[in-house]
Amino acid sequence: MNNPEFLAWANDRQQHIETVLAQLIPSQTVLPQRLHDAMRYATLGGGKRVRPLLVYASGTLMQASPAHQDIAAAAVELIHAYSLVHDDLPCMDNDTLRRGKPTCHIEFDESTALLAGDALQTLAFDLLSNQPAAASPTAQLKMVGLLAQAAGSHGMAGGQAIDLASVGLQLSLPELEQMHILKTGALIRASVLLGAHAGSSINDSELRQLDHFAKCIGLAFQVVDDILDAESTSATLGKTAGKDAEQNKPTYVSLLGLRDAKAHAQALLADAQESLTQFGERANHLLALADFIVARKF
Ligand code: IPE
Ligand code: IPE
Ligand code: MG
Ligand code: MG
Ligand code: MG
Repeated sequence: MNNPEFLAWANDRQQHIETVLAQLIPSQTVLPQRLHDAMRYATLGGGKRVRPLLVYASGTLMQASPAHQDIAAAAVELIHAYSLVHDDLPCMDNDTLRRGKPTCHIEFDESTALLAGDALQTLAFDLLSNQPAAASPTAQLKMVGLLAQAAGSHGMAGGQAIDLASVGLQLSLPELEQMHILKTGALIRASVLLGAHAGSSINDSELRQLDHFAKCIGLAFQVVDDILDAESTSATLGKTAGKDAEQNKPTYVSLLGLRDAKAHAQALLADAQESLTQFGERANHLLALADFIVARKF
């Protein structure tokens, strides 16, 4: 990834969302301090912020106001942070390392981590329903619904349920694809759509193209996560590498092998980028984000 303009933009947006989140999550000096401390610990000071970057890129593409983009970006990152806290719990992936630090339940304790996840999720919906985030109440209500569906049993939580039920099983490619589309793809897809709905009214054709892009990169994101788990190191990832094989999880690597998994990620990238041609240069940041999602090393 050698695109100085994109890298400078991404760096600026990452710093910005850090400030926004730091302001929106209650201070650890406010009761109950330990819960707020855990919420801040799990959300601040780490992560690639891919989902906020997607909100900012599609929001800017659709001329959303900066303040509206911030609320959508924060809401989706809060849901993501919650999903990571719960994903790491002993009853799920039982991980001790996340974003280069001890996982939330190791740093605090299991019940605090559980509640921190719960409260991060409700904070996301609190913000998205109580702060201005779109040009009209109808558009904002649509955004609340989109995020709820992406996080729920037909989205991330549903995918996580399938993930846990699939340990030790050999899934077919369509079954694996469905699991990945839900557990990771849904929130990535929602990020692009939230940005778009925060902006000026979007026509059906534009929405279809953006949605196709979002679906492709959402799936590609988890295919690459599977590849990195198999190929990278804990030091580079900031989370324990090699966990999928160790825990007998079906992944694109276990099903297709590394070479075909990588080819699949590239094919999804090409499909994603092709679907944005009608936007021309206005879609440059989304195109670069798709490249980043597939080329990333952590
Ligand atoms: C990790 O997500 C969990 C998955 C959904 C694959 P990210 O790779 O976006 O994690 P952070 O936010 O950068 O730590
Ligand atoms: C988790 O997938 C997806 C979530 C909804 C959090 P993984 O279990 O593969 O994510 P990592 O590898 O622990 O980040
Ligand atoms: Mg998991
Ligand atoms: Mg995990
Ligand atoms: Mg993983």
